[in-house]
Amino acid sequence: MATLDFPKVPGGDLTFREVELLLPGGAAPFVGDLRIEAGVITAVGMVDRPAGEVIDARGLTLMPGVIDPQVHFREPGPTHKEDLATGSAAAAVGGVTSFLEMPNTQPTTTTRAAVLDKHARASGRCRAHWGFFLGATPENQDLLAREALAPLVCGLKIFMGSSTGTLLVDDPAALEAHFAVSDAVARGVPIAVHAENEARLRANKAAAVAPTVRDHHRLRDAEAARLATAQAVALAEKYRRRLHILHLSTAEEAALLAERPRDGLVTSETLPQYLWLDARDYDRLGTRLQMNPPVREARHGEALWAALHAGVIDCMATDHAPHTLEEKARPYGEAPSGMPGVETLLPLMLHAAHLGKCTLPQVVQWLCEAPARCYGLTGKGRLSVGADGDVVLVDRRLSRTLRDADVVSKCGWTPYAGWTLTGFPVLTALRGRPVYRDGRLVDDVFGAPLTFAHGAT
Ligand code: DOR
Repeated sequence: MATLDFPKVPGGDLTFREVELLLPGGAAPFVGDLRIEAGVITAVGMVDRPAGEVIDARGLTLMPGVIDPQVHFREPGPTHKEDLATGSAAAAVGGVTSFLEMPNTQPTTTTRAAVLDKHARASGRCRAHWGFFLGATPENQDLLAREALAPLVCGLKIFMGSSTGTLLVDDPAALEAHFAVSDAVARGVPIAVHAENEARLRANKAAAVAPTVRDHHRLRDAEAARLATAQAVALAEKYRRRLHILHLSTAEEAALLAERPRDGLVTSETLPQYLWLDARDYDRLGTRLQMNPPVREARHGEALWAALHAGVIDCMATDHAPHTLEEKARPYGEAPSGMPGVETLLPLMLHAAHLGKCTLPQVVQWLCEAPARCYGLTGKGRLSVGADGDVVLVDRRLSRTLRDADVVSKCGWTPYAGWTLTGFPVLTALRGRPVYRDGRLVDDVFGAPLTFAHGAT
């Protein structure tokens, strides 16, 4: 089976009236109508013939559904932390209509059977559209081509440094062999790297005396990230293989990317954690803040903001990596790395726009248009005629204080508990069908597998 043959998910009809529209290409917001028919946007601007339910959205803002290109939904495996149904429900509540999910599940997503199993689990349960990464091992360089996996996966994920789970390709020859598979043979499937240099991580750890969580960003230091990013970029350039750098966390990596031409060969993302939190927060949050790559000194966050504004970093993701509070409460060294984030990405960035740290069109570029472009997601990431009717209606004046008790993710906590943000989604629709509205998930509305124009970036 080259493609997936699940029952087709129906598209809906929906019309928004007099809403502030965030259109593609950084256009200034303007007030107009938008119509979705059979799941596809059929009119933008003035709509004289509405279709389906008509929503009077005066005072609200309509943007494309957010695409989160890095989540861990834990299924199959440690589903006491999260599963595809709960993770995608959290996504829908947060205005995320598409997600790309990581392969460090149990078993790992490193075979054709494992990829197909994830798709089967997602179908009829996911409250957002899905894509899955294939996981790289030191030996599986030929798998993409041999098993014709290109239509079934969003990318090949390589852990260059070890993190949660067992996936790791730190041997230089094995790593190079993954990049040496040409784009033509890999059918344009991008390589996405967790860029931390394993040898340096090990050496730092061996040299550390009684480290605490405050040392986490010293053990996994900026140089470990820079070394790995430089290595991956050099390999991508040598073999002209499309590369995406996941969760960029340092000023030094941003400087390295700024020196490259913006030729689409190498793209990157950063995370809200690196923009909103810094090393001072280890005192307050302890091991809750522990993640890989780590949250670092404030100077990195400042450089990452600047790199986003300069277009050096293309997009944002969450690395939603839920663990239970019980697990996170273990002592440093035993507590797992990672924190949830899929439902707070959009509110945090709307809040950033509210504070004047960025504009609403930039939020759309970083959270919708750019991730769609980086992964060649067909029909996604833009409010334009012919695109899929995945939309989020936002009340950008709504202020709310985040609380663990309101978290939809199975893990039940957020590092932003107690923060008051301004700007929240009030309705999320998948291809014209509301999946979340007025604070509740709507029954029986599910997503579909994403399709990819690999190599079109
Ligand atoms: O902190 C992290 N947690 N970083 C990763 O790379 C993996 C993730 C997880 O799966 O828990």
